[in-house]
Amino acid sequence: MTPDPISPIPGRRLGVLISGRGSNLQALIDAVADGRLDVTLSVVISNRDDAEGLERARRAGIEAICLSHRSWPSREAYDRALVAELQQRRVDLVCLAGFMRVLGAPLIDAFPNRILNIHPSLLPAFPGVDAQRQAFVHGVKVAGVTVHLVTSELDGGPIILQRVVPVLDTDTVETLSARILAEEHRAYPEAVKILLNESWTVDGRRFVRLGRVGEASAVQPRAGN
Ligand code: GRF
Repeated sequence: MTPDPISPIPGRRLGVLISGRGSNLQALIDAVADGRLDVTLSVVISNRDDAEGLERARRAGIEAICLSHRSWPSREAYDRALVAELQQRRVDLVCLAGFMRVLGAPLIDAFPNRILNIHPSLLPAFPGVDAQRQAFVHGVKVAGVTVHLVTSELDGGPIILQRVVPVLDTDTVETLSARILAEEHRAYPEAVKILLNESWTVDGRRFVRLGRVGEASAVQPRAGN
């Protein structure tokens, strides 16, 4: 049996969590601005006050706040504070965009299957930090991008979409990272669109697309399953 759809998500209010540069946040801002993505960017939260992404958000007229993890006594308490800020703004979907914190249970439980992350490798290869360098040093011939739902397992949730990026013999870590980043900027808005505009479900580890909301299922249930 194909499991029941988890989607659709009730609203289109996005919260974005960042820690730094914010180029993926910018990709979401740009996609909204040019009509490719129909969402409201409700709030951007950074755990660092020097994150360049905070400025990008403010320039786009989006509320941008810093919530430093150092101000809370434990990871749990910090995560509860994040949940409170997101819920106050009636956020439906949370996008991690270079947020350098492992999420704890309070956050994951408050937004079940409602938190996305983007990772610069073809997971499950090269989880964790410096994924592009890990891939380069390993000598893989294709690298890439993964957008996935966030669970308690680091970089381990169900995969929404992946994009492949070739590794060239002439590459350095820097040139490869730049090519991966350009693909990230296309992939993230696309993944958000899938979550909001399509019917989908999670079957074990698998994120399964069932078709557009309101349309007949694009995926025929398999007989005998
Ligand atoms: C990106 O490479 C993303 O995949 C990873 O962290 C980096 C964030 O970059 N999770 P930016 O802040 O979005 O520019």
